[in-house]
Amino acid sequence: MKIQGPRIIVAFDFAAQEPAMELLARLDPGQCRIKVGKEMFTRFGPDLVRAIIGKGFDVFLDLKYHDIPNTVAAACKAAADLGVWMLNVHASGGRKMMVAAREALEGYAQRPLLIGVTILTSLSRADIAEAGFSGEPVDNVLRLAALGQASGLDGVVCSPLETEVIRRTLGEGFLLVTPGVRPGGSASDDQQRIKTPGDAIRGGSSYLVIGRPITAAPDPMASLEAIRREVEEALASG
Ligand code: C5P
Repeated sequence: MKIQGPRIIVAFDFAAQEPAMELLARLDPGQCRIKVGKEMFTRFGPDLVRAIIGKGFDVFLDLKYHDIPNTVAAACKAAADLGVWMLNVHASGGRKMMVAAREALEGYAQRPLLIGVTILTSLSRADIAEAGFSGEPVDNVLRLAALGQASGLDGVVCSPLETEVIRRTLGEGFLLVTPGVRPGGSASDDQQRIKTPGDAIRGGSSYLVIGRPITAAPDPMASLEAIRREVEEALASG
């Protein structure tokens, strides 16, 4: 899949709408896209998503659907009706659920990209063993990513440390969306396994999800511009 437009997705994790909309007014839809997750969606709902789309931005609706196929398919349709650019489901919901999600999105003139969540990057080997998955996290990630691809997903969310093995296994066309990105010298916050924007792109990331290094920066625009330049340089050298 040929990637067009901005590679940076700014994670909007604000507890109030005002700072989000103030930042949005300074951002350029030609330079970044916006991720709305469970916190803001639960507080502010579809109206917030409509408002962001109304300003010309592509929205990644990060609600990680995981339910019976019929329910997930209906939720995907609701997201597509809102006009989101990308949405996601848990790959561990299984093939039937993912196929139902994909089928629900057919027929939209601008079909949202459908992305899978494999193993949450916050889970350690011990955590996933306790939840009943055997083997190394990366083996589970690869198995679920392959199942997602076979079920018609456009790509997966993954750690930037997992992109190279997934790319090698699943090929060039599969989208890899990576949080856990930190510009050199910035705080890692609660992210444990991180890469710089340039290294993430060189390692095969399609899109970088970046929140606090931009939203909590003293000068968010300067921070975004520096990250954008690093991404452009990595793409030009790749
Ligand atoms: O502020 P920060 O750059 O850490 O934000 C990363 C965003 O990506 C947050 O919205 C977080 O919920 C999301 N995310 C993540 N790790 C995952 C999946 C999603 O950090 N494995």
